[in-house]
Amino acid sequence: MAPRSSHSLRCCPCGRRLGLLGTRAAALLRLRPSKASGAGPSDPEAIMERFHPRRPDWYQELYAKVLKKCMRSYEAKVAAYKAKLFSQLTGKSKKILELGVGTGANFKYYASAVDINVIGVDPNKKMEKYAQAAAVAAGLPLTNFSFMQGVGESLPVGDDTMDAVIGTLVLCSVTDIDMALKEIKRVLKPGGLFLFIEHVAAHDGSLLRCMQSILDPLQQFVSDGCHLTRETGKLISEAGFSSVDLNMTVLSSLSLIGPHVYGIACK
Ligand SMILES: C[S@@+](CC[C@H](N)C(=O)[O-])C[C@H]1O[C@@H](n2cnc3c(N)ncnc32)[C@H](O)[C@@H]1O
Repeated sequence: MAPRSSHSLRCCPCGRRLGLLGTRAAALLRLRPSKASGAGPSDPEAIMERFHPRRPDWYQELYAKVLKKCMRSYEAKVAAYKAKLFSQLTGKSKKILELGVGTGANFKYYASAVDINVIGVDPNKKMEKYAQAAAVAAGLPLTNFSFMQGVGESLPVGDDTMDAVIGTLVLCSVTDIDMALKEIKRVLKPGGLFLFIEHVAAHDGSLLRCMQSILDPLQQFVSDGCHLTRETGKLISEAGFSSVDLNMTVLSSLSLIGPHVYGIACK
């Protein structure tokens, strides 16, 4: 399948040089610059190698630490959106999978509900301790939380098993966004909900989009494979959910990652 996310550097000639720089930097960390396609292998190690090649330990630790420390101001800016979004998780949502759970920044919005079980999936094992601490702080007992090392392109749970899947700032980072969306649909029960908040590409032709294109390779290097130019809202809309409530906003104080989509898709 042809890649749908754009890495285009057409708008500025110096973008080409940065693109090359990004490719070299990615090789250094063994990031994959393009999307994979086709059915994946079933061996978990091979899956990880394909969709999130092992980064050096120091890099994973540093990324987890930086994510924990530096997301505070971002979290303050999206707090109202998150509060509204997560309030729509119904009392029936007992089994929840959070994709790219990271440090567990979302737990405070939903994890205090009674009787819920949360599975946090993330390729970076160094996130586990932070996610566990966030679960406890939110009132989710550790007996009801499990961290599973894995990737969105091959979720480690069965078909039709989850009442809800949550993904915030993660579809920018997965290697194959189409596969991840297929997986989200696969694991959701019929009628199950996918709640998302993602930063996305700015409008085509805008100065911001041009800047995003130029800085995309650098962003992938410093932010563990995060892309600035994905049209994630469009891809979610076209992923075959029975309904999608898609909203857009621009959080201008966030500059390059200002444009956001958020909403709920129902299987
Ligand atoms: C920007 S962080 C966001 C973390 C968290 N969702 C939040 O909102 O704070 C992106 C997360 O996606 C994870 N990630 C990267 N590639 C992934 C993949 N292929 N599948 C699942 N998670 C992935 C990273 O390890 C990281 O924890």
